[in-house]
Order: sequence, then structure tokens, then C-alpha cells
Amino acid sequence: MKAFVIHGPNLNLLGRRELSVYGDLTLDEVNAVVEKEAGALGFELTFFQTAREGEIIELLHSGIEAGVDGVVLNPAAYSHTSRAIADAVRAVPFPVVEVHLSNIHAREEWRRTSVTAEAARGIVAGFGPHSYVAALTALKGVLA
Ligand code: DQA
Repeated sequence: MKAFVIHGPNLNLLGRRELSVYGDLTLDEVNAVVEKEAGALGFELTFFQTAREGEIIELLHSGIEAGVDGVVLNPAAYSHTSRAIADAVRAVPFPVVEVHLSNIHAREEWRRTSVTAEAARGIVAGFGPHSYVAALTALKGVLA
């Protein structure tokens, strides 16, 4: 199975950004944790990170041509605002699992709404890098 892992804005600063919220692993280290588990789950992953809303949409679209079986997406702050990403998630033919490192429901009020999660197949939040691994496990379950 093929999957994209797409990280949204500011996640390139993991390991230097709000350590008490997001932990001290860098994005490369988070990806390494996810990659390590992906093989056993039967996934071949491609990782992306971008600060740009439109690029997240284009990456989702490119999953169609790439023949991915699913996408694990952390839209970061766009989760709380982006109807355009939500519509892209609705538009693609494969399941998209939304991921958050932190538990967005245990934080500020404005983070408790995710408009992109309304379109996602499901959501995993609060487990740090393990949120991504849990999302892949769930993806495998719905693809089986
Ligand atoms: C985040 C949660 C968002 O609210 C925030 O804007 C992020 C990261 C997370 O992974 O916990 O940038 O998506």
C-alpha cells in the first residue's frame, strides 16, 4: 500500500517550537518513527511538509495520479480555518486520516473545531508521533 504523509505549516520547526506541547523530536525524527512502523504495516510512505494551503490541496490532488491508497494529513492551523482543504479532502477518492500531535480538544477553544476533520475519514490527536502511527494502523484497517 502507498500513502502520503503531509505535514502543514510550522511543523518544520518541531523540536524547537513549543516543546511542552509538541515534544522535542524534530520533523525528521518524527518521520523516522513513522517510517519505522510503516514497513511492518505494509505501507510505502512519501513525506511532505509545506506552509502553503494551496500546496496541501495540490498534494492531495497529486495522490490521485500517484495511486495512493490513503493520506495521513496534519493540516496544523489550517485545520481550524480551511474550507478549501476540507473540500479537497472530500474530493479525493482515497481515505484521508487527520492527525494532530497535541490533543486539540484539551487546548484553546478555537483549536477545538477542525473544519478539515469534518471531511476526513477519521482523526487521531494527542499522541505525539504515535498519532501518525495510529493513523496508519487505522488506514490499514479501513483499506483491508
Ligand atoms: C497541530 C495542532 C494545531 O492546532 C496547531 O496549529 C499546529 C499543530 C498538532 O499537530 O497538534 O500547528 O496540528
